[in-house]
Amino acid sequence: MKLLYELSGDNQALAEAEIACVGTVTERANGIAVAETPNPDETTRLTETHVVSELLGVCNGTADALRELMTSLNITAEKPYCCRARKIHPAVVDISQLELEKMMGSLIKGKVSLKNPEIEYRAVFSDGQCWFGRVIHKIDRGSYSERDPKQRAYFHPGVIMPLLARAIVNLTRVKPGELLLDPFCGTGGVVLECRMLGVNAVGSDYDEEMLAGCRLNNPGNICIRADATSMPYMDETFHAVAADLPYGQSTSIGADSLEALYRGSLAEIRRVLRKDGRAVIVTHRDIRHIISEFDFELEGFFEQYVHKSLTRRIHVLK
Ligand SMILES: C[S@@+](CC[C@H](N)C(=O)[O-])C[C@H]1O[C@@H](n2cnc3c(N)ncnc32)[C@H](O)[C@@H]1O
Repeated sequence: MKLLYELSGDNQALAEAEIACVGTVTERANGIAVAETPNPDETTRLTETHVVSELLGVCNGTADALRELMTSLNITAEKPYCCRARKIHPAVVDISQLELEKMMGSLIKGKVSLKNPEIEYRAVFSDGQCWFGRVIHKIDRGSYSERDPKQRAYFHPGVIMPLLARAIVNLTRVKPGELLLDPFCGTGGVVLECRMLGVNAVGSDYDEEMLAGCRLNNPGNICIRADATSMPYMDETFHAVAADLPYGQSTSIGADSLEALYRGSLAEIRRVLRKDGRAVIVTHRDIRHIISEFDFELEGFFEQYVHKSLTRRIHVLK
């Protein structure tokens, strides 16, 4: 099914890369993407999208063109419905949002309900065009902040935040039932997101205390004490690897230097990852220049400014 994704973050490339775990992006405009999506229910796993709609049509970004499109679609809503118009810069449409919504409502047969609609039609104006669709899911990004790591059985300030943990799992494109490794699992933030998605996850860490915390936070998951530069796993065991590597600040490193840790663990990640798998590595460093030494290709690279002295780098390796 062709779906319209309204993207939430300010990093469009990251949002599109994440959508690749559920579909193939075929069109894009500022703030939106269209993707062929075999199973629309899977889109609830996304973090960088806030509304997912079934795409019903595309037209020029004017009220007249939308009227023509909707007239030709001849829609009858089988349940109470509402219409929403959204303008994303640069939208050329010249009438107000309210007028657009009134016009849309006049072109759909059925009962309007602004308070309790069971169906929502959306017209999104961006880059001179209008994408028209019917909402399938609204993704509640607020629910990630409710999953505050401080409320877990074990907390350490080095924890990865739930939204980022979910995003990096998604960037590996791992599917439910497949096996993912986090070789720097710490308190198990990545393992936890995998559990929620039905992905089997193994967490390992060289620090006993962190590992005990990971077990408390993820009862039932396999958490193994292991040095990421010398892993106890067989070659090509995992469909995916996702990890945030130590920055050498709030957590100690089980190696002579960060350099040795990064190189040693990249070699091991390559060995234990299936040839068709992806590894997503989050660090404060740009490690693009060393990945080819480990037979990896860079599929994606994203930077997130955190504060003056920290920019997070997300590397997607294949
Ligand atoms: C940034 S923290 C990971 C936090 C984790 N994502 C979480 O949700 O809590 C990095 C982790 O790497 C672990 N670590 C450091 N050196 C390691 C090594 N050589 N092998 C395995 N783990 C190591 C640290 O103990 C720490 O738990």
